[in-house]
Amino acid sequence: MIKLAIFASGAGSNAAKIIEHFKNNPTVVIDLIVCNKKEAGVWGIAAANQIDTLYINRESFIESDACVKQLQARSIDFIVLAGFLWKVPESLINAYPGKIINIHPALLPKYGGKGMYGMHVHEAVIAAGEKESGITIHYVDAHYDEGDIIFQAKCTIEPNETPASLAAKIHVLEHAHFPVVIEKLLSI
Ligand code: GRF
Repeated sequence: MIKLAIFASGAGSNAAKIIEHFKNNPTVVIDLIVCNKKEAGVWGIAAANQIDTLYINRESFIESDACVKQLQARSIDFIVLAGFLWKVPESLINAYPGKIINIHPALLPKYGGKGMYGMHVHEAVIAAGEKESGITIHYVDAHYDEGDIIFQAKCTIEPNETPASLAAKIHVLEHAHFPVVIEKLLSI
Protein backbone atom coordinates (compact mmCIF):
# COMPACT_ATOMS: atom_id res chain seq x y z
CA MET A 1 0.00 0.00 0.00
CA ILE A 2 1.40 3.43 -0.91
CA LYS A 3 0.68 5.81 1.95
CA LEU A 4 0.13 9.47 1.02
CA ALA A 5 0.27 12.51 3.29
CA ILE A 6 -1.43 15.68 2.07
CA PHE A 7 -0.15 19.00 3.46
CA ALA A 8 -2.60 21.93 3.29
CA SER A 9 -3.01 25.36 4.87
CA GLY A 10 -6.37 26.48 3.53
CA ALA A 11 -9.80 25.42 2.30
CA GLY A 12 -8.50 22.07 1.14
CA SER A 13 -10.53 21.80 -2.07
CA ASN A 14 -7.56 20.10 -3.75
CA ALA A 15 -7.21 17.73 -0.80
CA ALA A 16 -10.90 16.87 -1.08
CA LYS A 17 -10.57 16.04 -4.79
CA ILE A 18 -7.49 13.89 -4.15
CA ILE A 19 -9.25 12.02 -1.34
CA GLU A 20 -12.27 11.45 -3.58
CA HIS A 21 -10.11 10.24 -6.45
CA PHE A 22 -8.31 7.62 -4.38
CA LYS A 23 -11.36 6.55 -2.36
CA ASN A 24 -11.48 3.00 -3.69
CA ASN A 25 -7.93 2.74 -5.00
CA PRO A 26 -6.48 -0.67 -4.08
CA THR A 27 -2.85 0.48 -3.84
CA VAL A 28 -2.91 4.11 -2.68
CA VAL A 29 -4.27 5.36 0.62
CA ILE A 30 -4.51 8.93 1.91
CA ASP A 31 -3.09 8.19 5.33
CA LEU A 32 -2.66 11.65 6.86
CA ILE A 33 -3.65 15.29 6.44
CA VAL A 34 -1.01 17.70 7.78
CA CYS A 35 -1.93 21.32 8.44
CA ASN A 36 -0.30 24.36 10.01
CA LYS A 37 -3.38 26.57 10.38
CA LYS A 38 -5.87 25.79 13.15
CA GLU A 39 -8.67 27.62 11.30
CA ALA A 40 -8.16 25.88 7.94
CA GLY A 41 -11.12 24.25 6.21
CA VAL A 42 -9.08 21.14 5.50
CA TRP A 43 -9.59 19.85 9.06
CA GLY A 44 -13.30 19.43 8.28
CA ILE A 45 -12.47 17.56 5.07
CA ALA A 46 -10.23 15.17 7.00
CA ALA A 47 -12.94 14.58 9.62
CA ALA A 48 -15.63 14.00 6.97
CA ASN A 49 -13.38 11.35 5.39
CA GLN A 50 -12.15 9.81 8.68
CA ILE A 51 -8.54 10.63 7.82
CA ASP A 52 -6.00 11.15 10.61
CA THR A 53 -4.60 14.64 10.96
CA LEU A 54 -1.40 16.21 12.24
CA TYR A 55 -1.11 19.82 13.33
CA ILE A 56 2.36 21.29 12.78
CA ASN A 57 3.90 24.55 13.93
CA ARG A 58 7.22 26.20 13.23
CA GLU A 59 8.86 24.30 16.06
CA SER A 60 7.80 20.85 14.87
CA PHE A 61 8.15 21.56 11.15
CA ILE A 62 11.07 23.94 10.78
CA GLU A 63 13.08 24.06 14.00
CA SER A 64 13.11 20.32 14.64
CA ASP A 65 12.61 17.11 12.70
CA ALA A 66 9.58 16.15 14.80
CA CYS A 67 7.30 16.27 11.75
CA VAL A 68 9.69 14.13 9.68
CA LYS A 69 9.85 11.57 12.46
CA GLN A 70 6.04 11.45 12.69
CA LEU A 71 5.74 10.89 8.93
CA GLN A 72 8.34 8.13 9.07
CA ALA A 73 6.66 6.56 12.10
CA ARG A 74 3.51 6.25 9.97
CA SER A 75 5.51 4.88 7.02
CA ILE A 76 4.35 7.70 4.76
CA ASP A 77 5.69 7.04 1.23
CA PHE A 78 4.79 10.21 -0.67
CA ILE A 79 3.91 13.79 0.19
CA VAL A 80 1.51 16.06 -1.69
CA LEU A 81 1.44 19.79 -0.95
CA ALA A 82 -2.03 21.09 -1.80
CA GLY A 83 -2.15 24.75 -0.83
CA PHE A 84 0.54 24.48 1.82
CA LEU A 85 2.13 27.85 2.39
CA TRP A 86 5.41 27.15 4.17
CA LYS A 87 8.72 26.39 2.48
CA VAL A 88 9.69 22.76 3.02
CA PRO A 89 12.82 22.41 5.19
CA GLU A 90 15.87 20.50 4.00
CA SER A 91 15.29 17.81 6.63
CA LEU A 92 12.00 16.83 4.98
CA ILE A 93 13.39 17.15 1.44
CA ASN A 94 16.28 14.85 2.41
CA ALA A 95 13.97 12.36 4.09
CA TYR A 96 11.71 12.18 1.03
CA PRO A 97 13.91 12.71 -2.07
CA GLY A 98 11.80 12.89 -5.24
CA LYS A 99 8.73 12.10 -3.16
CA ILE A 100 7.28 15.55 -2.51
CA ILE A 101 5.18 17.41 -5.09
CA ASN A 102 3.34 20.73 -5.09
CA ILE A 103 0.72 22.44 -7.17
CA HIS A 104 1.12 26.11 -8.04
CA PRO A 105 -1.68 28.21 -9.55
CA ALA A 106 0.42 29.71 -12.37
CA LEU A 107 2.70 28.69 -15.24
CA LEU A 108 6.10 28.45 -13.49
CA PRO A 109 8.84 29.53 -13.66
CA LYS A 110 6.95 32.84 -13.91
CA TYR A 111 4.79 34.06 -11.03
CA GLY A 112 6.29 31.82 -8.40
CA GLY A 113 8.35 32.27 -5.28
CA LYS A 114 7.84 33.74 -1.85
CA GLY A 115 4.55 35.59 -1.46
CA MET A 116 3.18 34.30 -4.76
CA TYR A 117 0.11 32.41 -3.59
CA GLY A 118 -3.65 32.61 -3.94
CA MET A 119 -5.02 35.89 -5.29
CA HIS A 120 -1.56 37.51 -5.33
CA VAL A 121 -0.67 35.23 -8.24
CA HIS A 122 -3.79 35.95 -10.28
CA GLU A 123 -3.51 39.70 -9.66
CA ALA A 124 0.11 39.68 -10.86
CA VAL A 125 -0.67 37.63 -13.97
CA ILE A 126 -3.53 39.95 -14.99
CA ALA A 127 -1.57 43.11 -14.13
CA ALA A 128 1.24 41.87 -16.38
CA GLY A 129 -1.19 41.62 -19.30
CA GLU A 130 -0.68 37.89 -19.77
CA LYS A 131 -3.04 36.23 -22.28
CA GLU A 132 -2.96 32.87 -20.51
CA SER A 133 -2.33 31.33 -17.11
CA GLY A 134 -2.65 27.84 -15.70
CA ILE A 135 -1.32 25.36 -13.17
CA THR A 136 2.06 23.80 -12.54
CA ILE A 137 2.64 20.55 -10.68
CA HIS A 138 6.29 20.18 -9.71
CA TYR A 139 8.72 18.35 -7.46
CA VAL A 140 9.57 20.25 -4.31
CA ASP A 141 13.12 21.27 -3.55
CA ALA A 142 14.49 23.60 -0.88
CA HIS A 143 13.33 26.73 -2.74
CA TYR A 144 9.77 27.98 -3.26
CA ASP A 145 8.27 26.75 -6.55
CA GLU A 146 11.58 25.85 -8.21
CA GLY A 147 11.59 22.06 -8.46
CA ASP A 148 11.42 20.13 -11.74
CA ILE A 149 8.12 20.61 -13.52
CA ILE A 150 5.97 17.48 -13.87
CA PHE A 151 2.82 18.86 -15.53
CA GLN A 152 1.25 22.11 -16.71
CA ALA A 153 -2.23 22.96 -18.00
CA LYS A 154 -3.29 26.33 -19.42
CA CYS A 155 -6.36 28.56 -19.51
CA THR A 156 -7.00 31.76 -21.42
CA ILE A 157 -7.20 35.19 -19.82
CA GLU A 158 -10.04 37.25 -21.28
CA PRO A 159 -9.92 41.06 -21.60
CA ASN A 160 -12.41 41.45 -18.74
CA GLU A 161 -10.83 38.74 -16.54
CA THR A 162 -10.72 39.42 -12.82
CA PRO A 163 -8.48 37.69 -10.24
CA ALA A 164 -11.60 35.94 -8.91
CA SER A 165 -12.73 34.67 -12.32
CA LEU A 166 -9.20 33.51 -13.09
CA ALA A 167 -8.96 31.78 -9.71
CA ALA A 168 -12.14 29.87 -10.54
CA LYS A 169 -10.70 28.72 -13.88
CA ILE A 170 -7.47 27.66 -12.16
CA HIS A 171 -9.33 25.66 -9.52
CA VAL A 172 -11.16 23.78 -12.29
CA LEU A 173 -7.80 22.85 -13.82
CA GLU A 174 -6.34 21.87 -10.45
CA HIS A 175 -9.25 19.65 -9.52
CA ALA A 176 -9.29 17.99 -12.94
CA HIS A 177 -5.56 17.29 -13.20
CA PHE A 178 -3.88 17.04 -9.79
CA PRO A 179 -5.41 13.70 -8.70
CA VAL A 180 -4.70 12.13 -12.11
CA VAL A 181 -1.09 13.35 -12.18
CA ILE A 182 -0.54 11.94 -8.68
CA GLU A 183 -1.99 8.59 -9.74
CA LYS A 184 0.30 8.45 -12.79
CA LEU A 185 3.36 9.33 -10.67
CA LEU A 186 2.55 6.61 -8.15
CA SER A 187 1.95 3.98 -10.78
CA ILE A 188 5.43 4.39 -12.34
C1 GRF B 1 -4.56 26.26 -4.87
O1 GRF B 1 -4.82 27.35 -5.72
C2 GRF B 1 -3.16 25.75 -5.14
O2 GRF B 1 -2.74 25.94 -6.47
C3 GRF B 1 -2.32 26.59 -4.25
O3 GRF B 1 -3.09 26.80 -3.08
C4 GRF B 1 -4.48 26.68 -3.42
C5 GRF B 1 -5.06 25.64 -2.52
O4 GRF B 1 -6.44 25.70 -2.59
N1 GRF B 1 -1.06 25.94 -3.95
P1 GRF B 1 -7.28 24.62 -1.70
O5 GRF B 1 -6.90 24.87 -0.26
O6 GRF B 1 -6.84 23.26 -2.17
O7 GRF B 1 -8.70 24.94 -2.02
